[in-house]
Amino acid sequence: MAELKNMTVVTSGKLRKTAYDLLDANTNLLAWKESGRTPADVFDGWLAQADALYSIGNIKINGALLDKAPNLKVIAQASVGYDNIDVAECNARGIRVGNTPRVLSPAVADLAYGLIIDSARKIARGWQHVASGKWGERKGLGFGVDLAGKTLGIVGMGDIGSRVVKRALASDMRVIYHNRHRRSDDAALGAAYVSFEELLQTSDFVLVTVPLTKETEGMFGKKQFEAMKQGARFINIARGKIVDTEALYDALSSGHIAYAALDVTDPEPLPGTHKLLTLDNITVTPHIASSTVETRDAMAKLAAENILAGLNGEPMPAEVKA
Ligand code: DGY
Repeated sequence: MAELKNMTVVTSGKLRKTAYDLLDANTNLLAWKESGRTPADVFDGWLAQADALYSIGNIKINGALLDKAPNLKVIAQASVGYDNIDVAECNARGIRVGNTPRVLSPAVADLAYGLIIDSARKIARGWQHVASGKWGERKGLGFGVDLAGKTLGIVGMGDIGSRVVKRALASDMRVIYHNRHRRSDDAALGAAYVSFEELLQTSDFVLVTVPLTKETEGMFGKKQFEAMKQGARFINIARGKIVDTEALYDALSSGHIAYAALDVTDPEPLPGTHKLLTLDNITVTPHIASSTVETRDAMAKLAAENILAGLNGEPMPAEVKA
């Protein structure tokens, strides 16, 4: 590896040790060591000197930010989603962008499967019931439904979606999916390709795993929820903005959608006073799909490797292009 100690890498938040050690050993790393967030003036001062930016996904990376970083060559974000980054603007300025696909897929698929089960069996609701002293009033919780024999419709069949298929098949579900392109391995995978409309009309459980793009923003609104089966369940582990929150609220309030389990929301974070949280047919987790020790370590390492490769002018292990 070429000498990179004269290259300055700045960070938008706390780094995990796997990334910190790699970047600190090889570059001039500027990372906030005190508690709390990096103060804005300090971060702006760092950007002015930055050759690379390590993002934890907590900032909008657009022309305004790039104007503050005239020497920037590489951005690596420790997430698979990069909807907060204007990649076209970065590429137009000669800045390479990396993300962290694949390493998080098993953890995200596990959480998706967990939310599918929760939406069927009300695990989180059951805990709430017991914790509020209502064990003896189990009837108030109502029955759940079986997964076996039900149809799971997966919207977006990438690495995460295909791992959810395996988990769903273990529960004896039938799996259908919709993607921009039909996968050539879908028969081997055990999932049948259908149109978006057919998926909505025939799924008992709809799982969203598509990235947030101009095309997918607001993909689930009033019309789509109405097209879903009466009593269907809705699970989103992708991005909150793919769903019209008002429309979801209405569909859950009327009972047309029996249950929603969401790891992502719009807005995010979801305020504790938000009306979605007044419903008793919803579970919300705070965007924790990739939050395991092993996965976050692997994501951090891959993001750091993206930076080192990018600064060296080598192929990045995971580069995204506009
Ligand atoms: C990602 O990496 O985009 C996920 O949302 C993190 O959980």
